Amino acid sequence: MTLELSARAAQLSGSVIDSSTQLLAQQEHDIVRFAMGAPSEDLIPMAQLDELFSRMPAGRYDYGESPGEPALREQIIALSEQMGNPTSDDRLVVTNGAMQGLDLAFKLLVDPGDLVIVEKPTYPNGYQTAQSYEADVVAVPVDRHGLVIESLEEVVRHSGKKPKVIYTIPNFQNPSGVTLSEERKRRLLELAEQWGSVIVEDDPYGMLRFDGSDVPSFSALGGENPRVFRIQTFSKLIAPGLRVGWIDVDPALQKLAVNAKQAMDTCTNAPNQLVVAQFLERGYLTPHLERLRPLYRQRKIAMKEALSDSFGSSITMTEPEGGFFLWVTFSQAAEHLDTGKLFPIALEQGVAYIPGVAFTLDGSHHNALRLCFATSSPDRIREGVERLSRAIETFESV
Ligand SMILES: Cc1ncc(COP(=O)(O)O)c(C=O)c1O
Repeated sequence: MTLELSARAAQLSGSVIDSSTQLLAQQEHDIVRFAMGAPSEDLIPMAQLDELFSRMPAGRYDYGESPGEPALREQIIALSEQMGNPTSDDRLVVTNGAMQGLDLAFKLLVDPGDLVIVEKPTYPNGYQTAQSYEADVVAVPVDRHGLVIESLEEVVRHSGKKPKVIYTIPNFQNPSGVTLSEERKRRLLELAEQWGSVIVEDDPYGMLRFDGSDVPSFSALGGENPRVFRIQTFSKLIAPGLRVGWIDVDPALQKLAVNAKQAMDTCTNAPNQLVVAQFLERGYLTPHLERLRPLYRQRKIAMKEALSDSFGSSITMTEPEGGFFLWVTFSQAAEHLDTGKLFPIALEQGVAYIPGVAFTLDGSHHNALRLCFATSSPDRIREGVERLSRAIETFESV
């Protein structure tokens, strides 16, 4: 029997990143995990979370409020103020991770055929969500200062359509690790005004800066600009399994986002929201992040050194100042290397990463890969890079 599906169903291509979680879970041998963008288990504040879960208030298992638990919204307002992005209760909706924020953004903003600009490379679950709402998704390259504005203007001229949404990951971008400069952000705000576009600012990593200085967010630069739809999450800061994130949007959009969310899940997991609220109220987040940042810095350095030792001038690497990811491109003599084909050999050798093509719409970046340095200790990182090097030798010899 063939079911008659919606035309939309054909746009649901599935995430390579999510399928690699399943693939890795099935492996029984030792694997150094550079694939997933998640904090390692030893860096999740398990004892504090367990304690908070054991002391939850009455009513925790009720349906909560769709915009989010008031106690958490209050804490998010205080945190946003502290981070230089003041917001207010009529702008916030607590979401089931940043992913639900992306779904709400594209659901509210995009009609079939609308032009959505994404970065190249970019987080695939982001552009796939836009595609699920039948957007015409076009990718614009990033360089070491983020989205290349001249290329964006060129793409828009060429397409003959004004973008409805510009989707950007401004800080320590997934997958490249680069950060969008303030100058480019200001220009993007001007272009968004000129074109009538909304900037979807997906910022899971901004609070994980370990080098350099903060670049103001679009929200901070734009005041309460209704053209900015800001998405954040506790997944990378506390724990991804909590599935708690939030959006900060124009009050008119907030009401619509709540209506849209009611059709998805009515309210985000109340016990987890209450635990996150307590985590913030007790002041656990700041020391936790202060502990994480130097560790991630150390892990990034260990990864870059190990890669330089193993691959020398046959690779180029980005220089992330925070976040989780390093983007490696095989250059010159090794340009033919296809990291998708290399992947099963690397897995066999005991190291996992995400191949570059997973982050593009057009199958480019076949000679690149994304490595997450956040998940492994420096020793494991060195071991993983050695395994990668052995995998490449095996690949080249067959
Ligand atoms: C850029 C980006 N956006 C959104 C997400 C999804 O975050 P969450 O796990 O909170 O849904 C991720 C997670 O990897 C990400 O890297």
